[in-house]
Amino acid sequence: MRKKIISGNWKMNLSPNEAEKFLKELIPALQIAKSEVVLCVPFVDIAVAKELTKGTNIKVGAQNCHFEEAGAFTGEISANMLKSVSVDYVILGHSERRAYFAETDEMINKKVKSAVKQNLKVILCVGETLDQRESNTTNDIIKKQIFTALQGIEKNDLKNIIIAYEPVWAIGTGKTATSGLAEEVCKYIRDIIRNLYDLAISDGVVILYGGSMNAKNAKDLLSQKDIDGGLIGGSSLKIADFSEIVNIADEI
Ligand code: PGA
Repeated sequence: MRKKIISGNWKMNLSPNEAEKFLKELIPALQIAKSEVVLCVPFVDIAVAKELTKGTNIKVGAQNCHFEEAGAFTGEISANMLKSVSVDYVILGHSERRAYFAETDEMINKKVKSAVKQNLKVILCVGETLDQRESNTTNDIIKKQIFTALQGIEKNDLKNIIIAYEPVWAIGTGKTATSGLAEEVCKYIRDIIRNLYDLAISDGVVILYGGSMNAKNAKDLLSQKDIDGGLIGGSSLKIADFSEIVNIADEI
């Protein structure tokens, strides 16, 4: 049985003061969660999130890191810096980073390697654009993204890697993939992992769906065989919606 993971992606929202207020309301609503709950917060909110989640089962994640350990990379944060402040997870390869910050599959591969080296858990995002879906290249794109991102990653490290399927056309648009379509790609991702590693690894790898997941569509998506949780943007900033999604995951 794979565990369910419900991860919030706050993106560039909530200053530390706002995060403190938000977490003081959210955390009591999540205390009984059986699923693993991860909050991927802006760098400046890590301290307050770590402090307020102490003693709970809620994990704290970052949304990016650089692949070098240190050096002249103005504005960047390394995986070992994240580890030094006890961050548990890091999102890598999010489509917004690919689209707006020119991140390539090769850069993402280096980032995955540096995060894994620091024993951070990685939420590796993959997904096709609308053009790619309409030109029937979804599977090729997903395969290339995963093959490149995991190049040189040992079987043993896969326990620290979670894959999030996030169709770009569904992110922040209110257009969710149907559960059938999301399941089809998540199953395909599991097949890719089996081909790259083996059956035990592919059976164990946690695969999330992300893209306009909300309290209304979560049950249908999370009930799919190969969907083990969600990476949630907009709805993770709404306490009632996010805690409802966690409740739904707990009941499945
Ligand atoms: P969304 O974002 O839930 O707002 O679509 C998901 C994500 O970008 O991870």
